[in-house]
Order: sequence, then structure tokens, then C-alpha cells
Amino acid sequence: MGDYTNMSGYYDLIMTSGYYNYEKIVDNLVQHLPFSNVLEIGCGTGLIMETLAKRQPEVVITGVDLTHAMLTIAEQRLQTFSQVTLQHQNVTELSLDNSFDLPFSYGGVWYFVIDGDKEPFLVSHIAQDEPNRIGLAQIAKHVKAGGHLLLGVQGPHHDYASPISNGMLYSQKIEPADHGFIKHYYLADGEKKLMAQTIHYRTYTFTEALALLKDLGFIYQAYAGDKPQFLTFKKS
Ligand SMILES: C[S@@+](CC[C@H](N)C(=O)[O-])C[C@H]1O[C@@H](n2cnc3c(N)ncnc32)[C@H](O)[C@@H]1O
Repeated sequence: MGDYTNMSGYYDLIMTSGYYNYEKIVDNLVQHLPFSNVLEIGCGTGLIMETLAKRQPEVVITGVDLTHAMLTIAEQRLQTFSQVTLQHQNVTELSLDNSFDLPFSYGGVWYFVIDGDKEPFLVSHIAQDEPNRIGLAQIAKHVKAGGHLLLGVQGPHHDYASPISNGMLYSQKIEPADHGFIKHYYLADGEKKLMAQTIHYRTYTFTEALALLKDLGFIYQAYAGDKPQFLTFKKS
């Protein structure tokens, strides 16, 4: 499972050093307005929810995440936003009272990778097939008919090392694995190793992903133009 405990204390620092662009992510979310009830799947430390809550204070936002340490940071960040609710839940056992018109996952449990002109493929933080199917089915149960499921888009993963804003060195290493890949994340301050985290990701071809989602009533909405921040699936 995608446990982020080791990275949690450094997550914001790494992500806001250019790894993700949270304003741009929310620019893309608000293109789907009107919506009133949003679910972030794998909300982490709440950086997207905070940006969205500031821009669209009338929208009710729920964030779920598996990693306690990430949610603790999100709770602090979002304590003054009464429209945001956080829940410690594994998506494979998702159980919420509400249903949503805009569930989304950006770098959260599921996302697509688009590498140039190659066909997109789906990446999951859940390494086994069956729990992926169960997790997506749990999401489907929580989406209103006509609602949109948005799954984030990222570029291809590769090995690199690069300084972050405070001069520490972030690095990552990718290894192939059965049905996916293993990604190692590291942070170092000079000689001192501060953080190491390993996640086993499962991948699905585009055809497999579309079939999996279609079986749950999610119909892919093809996009035109440049690489989007999200791929969109409409719930029938
Ligand atoms: C890369 S972080 C993304 C966080 C946030 N969406 C952002 O953009 O900053 C991935 C998050 O997904 C969560 N996650 C992974 N597997 C999960 C699961 N099965 N159920 C719920 N959350 C999960 C991890 O705990 C982690 O906080």
C-alpha cells in the first residue's frame, strides 16, 4: 500500500519546490464548475484542498487518505476551513455518508502518465489487482450520476537527483517490477540522509484502464489540445 509516513515531514517542502504546481492543478479543477461536493482521493497534506478552498469557498470538500502522518499535517493546514472534512480511510474500504459530483485524485491513489505521443497508462499506489478493482468500485458507489471522476496526469518517471528550494538534495530511483514499477524516494542534507521511502506501483495499459472504469459506469471523455492536468470520466 502507498504509505507516505517516511516522507510526510518533508512532503510539502519537496512538492512546493516545483514537483507539483498546485495553482495549475486547481485551474484545471475549476474548469469543471459548477460543482458543489468534491472528494479528494489520497489528499495527502491538503495542498490541493487548501488552494481550492481559498478560491471556491462555497464548495464542500472531503479528503481521504491512508497515511495518518500526512492527514495530521492536512488537519493543521485546513483547521480554519470549515467546508473541508478529512477522513482517515483506505480507498479500498471507502465509506462516506455523502456522494460527490467531483471526485478526483492527483498523484493520489491513481493517476495517468502521458509520455509524449505514447498512449497514456494508469499508475496505482495499490500494487495488487483485486484491491484496485475494489477501490475503484468503492469510488463509483460515492459518485452522483452525471458526476465526473478526474484522474491526474503526470509525465514519465525517471531517475534523477535535484536540489530543492532550501538546498537539500531530492532524488528518486525507478526499478521495473511485475505489473508495474518500484519507486525509491530520497532526501539528503549534504552527507546526512534525511528520508527514504519506497512505493510499489501497479500499472494498467490505457485499454485496461478504460475497460476497468467502464465496467463501473465511468465513460472516458476524450480531450483536445495539449497534455491536460486530468483525464475525465463521466459517471453514467
Ligand atoms: C503523492 S501523495 C499525493 C497527495 C496530494 N494529492 C497532493 O497532490 O499533494 C499520495 C497520497 O496518496 C495516499 N494513498 C496511497 N494509497 C492510498 C489508499 N489506498 N487509500 C487512501 N490514500 C492512499 C498516500 O497516503 C499519500 O498521502
